[in-house]
Amino acid sequence: MCGIIGYVGGKQATPFLLEGLRRMEYRGYDSAGVAVANGGAVVTCRAAGKIARLESALAATPVHGTVGVGHTRWATHGPPTERNAHPHASADGTVAVVHNGIIENANALRAVLQGKGYEFRSDTDTEVMAHLVQELFEGSLEDAVINALREVEGTYGLAIVSSRDPGKIVAARKGSPLLIGIGDGEHFLASDASAILAHTRQVVYLDDGDVAVVQADGYRVLDRDAAPMSRRVEKIDWDLSAIERGGYAHFMLKEIFEQPQTVENAMRGRLIVEDGTSKLGGLNLSHEQLMAIDNIIITACGTSWHSALIGEMMIEELCRIPVEVEYASEFRYRNPIVTDRTLCIVISQSGETADTLAAMREAKRRGARTLGLVNVVGSTIAREDDGGIYLHAGPEIGVASTKAFTSQVVALALFTLKLARKRGLSVTRGIEFAKALAALPGQVREVLDRAEQMEHIAEEFKRSPNVLYLGRGVNFPVALEGALKLKEISYIHAEGYPAAEMKHGPIALIDEMMPVVFVAPHDAVFDKVVSNVQEVKARKGTVIAVTSRDEPALAGLLDYEFRIPETVDLLMPVLASIPLQLLAYYIAVKRGANVDQPRNLAKSVTVE
Ligand code: M6R
Repeated sequence: MCGIIGYVGGKQATPFLLEGLRRMEYRGYDSAGVAVANGGAVVTCRAAGKIARLESALAATPVHGTVGVGHTRWATHGPPTERNAHPHASADGTVAVVHNGIIENANALRAVLQGKGYEFRSDTDTEVMAHLVQELFEGSLEDAVINALREVEGTYGLAIVSSRDPGKIVAARKGSPLLIGIGDGEHFLASDASAILAHTRQVVYLDDGDVAVVQADGYRVLDRDAAPMSRRVEKIDWDLSAIERGGYAHFMLKEIFEQPQTVENAMRGRLIVEDGTSKLGGLNLSHEQLMAIDNIIITACGTSWHSALIGEMMIEELCRIPVEVEYASEFRYRNPIVTDRTLCIVISQSGETADTLAAMREAKRRGARTLGLVNVVGSTIAREDDGGIYLHAGPEIGVASTKAFTSQVVALALFTLKLARKRGLSVTRGIEFAKALAALPGQVREVLDRAEQMEHIAEEFKRSPNVLYLGRGVNFPVALEGALKLKEISYIHAEGYPAAEMKHGPIALIDEMMPVVFVAPHDAVFDKVVSNVQEVKARKGTVIAVTSRDEPALAGLLDYEFRIPETVDLLMPVLASIPLQLLAYYIAVKRGANVDQPRNLAKSVTVE
């Protein structure tokens, strides 16, 4: 969601803050701001809109100082205006606060502070924190922050500077990620490792409940009673190139084209083709525990929820264990049936999605073991799950998830294979599935080699107001994912449906103006899909089909066709989803949309 950056050292803070904000702009891009401690005062500069607007404002009125914090915002409380942009200053101007998360009792705190004469200048929940720290200031900034946090309910990643206690940033974390970057005579604070990677790889991830005091020559981590805590220094193991566009027009396109590599990375060292199984080091599930699983719940949001649906079909088919897939936002407020023999698989690219995290905690509370399929190393879900499978897809910057999706499907396949072999899948079938997995990176490359064809198809549909996506079986979630990709980056209304369900309603929409994308590779339900294609053609719909071979049954029925290689049915989504990513991408670009930063969206949804 929003991004936080902080710098304290011997150099001017503003260039570091701006660079960090630019690298995190994918997390939120409604408005941005910085606050720099400048001698006896804290000077704030904010602007509505993209970081470029803030840069212009700072060029016109530079702020100087060696300690500062910055923020890029995805609006929750109040519209994305300059007055609502962070940092928020205390009434006397001595304290400046940037905040990710939501202060749930902000209204009550606002009323109390107003009663004491504080005037509020924004619609945000965050502003209460600035006044509260001023109100409770005695001694050090960290003491004031700790005292203020005693009054606060909700979630936060906070970074605070004050002219009353110069030379430091005080940070606090509860439910919103923060890390300290360790430099030489300088330290950084960020909500996202990509913001500081150009300056250091040594980081300390804060845990919930931590308060950190970050200074030029060191840092301290305290608990909520100001007692010192020890936290491990970790190393970021990816390069700057991973977070740069590297010649591609957009991060999304770069990430689509990285998939041969990311699919391979997800399997590296894990797939054992000759034994028809996989080795997953981080599962933390013994043979006995794997054998004792009665049922599996998979919970996730958005694209990750789509991969969960594919996981459900894989696990039920090959492991014969009942699986339920739940939107994390629904799971957390239901009264689900969970026992100590339930495995809860939690899927999240970011590892920070608030609903998914809360669902995981709820499953744990009810006695389930949790297994996180997460991309971002060190993220909250990865730290709190009982066991995990990292996706190893590298940073995903484009707001529309692409490479993380295919890696999720591969990770689910690896887990399925391991569990299935333990639960009775024959070695022959295991080897067949493992071989199909091993062939995927090359097949993904083949799909991408045909990207240009999809660019031509996109030209035909760039003005369509609606698009329907249909698929059956394991390709129904692919249809859902194709529709989500298109709507989030092109703003075209798109729906994904099980192909046969179309005749129970959506068929009313079909006419010559309605493009229908069929995910129709040659699989066990192909013949059924053909009937659905005929139903669309009979009503003059335009058919775009993703197919895997010459199909006499489709002769004369397709207006546009995109061919993918064949694999086993359960792995088809890895190949079939890529043309739909390309279709969405090219349509959005042709419509002039901002593909990497679509309106109203942010990469990681850390609020409910
Ligand atoms: O980081 P997560 O996988 O938990 O994110 C879940 C969704 O917010 C995410 O997949 C979202 O739907 C993407 N914008 C899809 O492209």
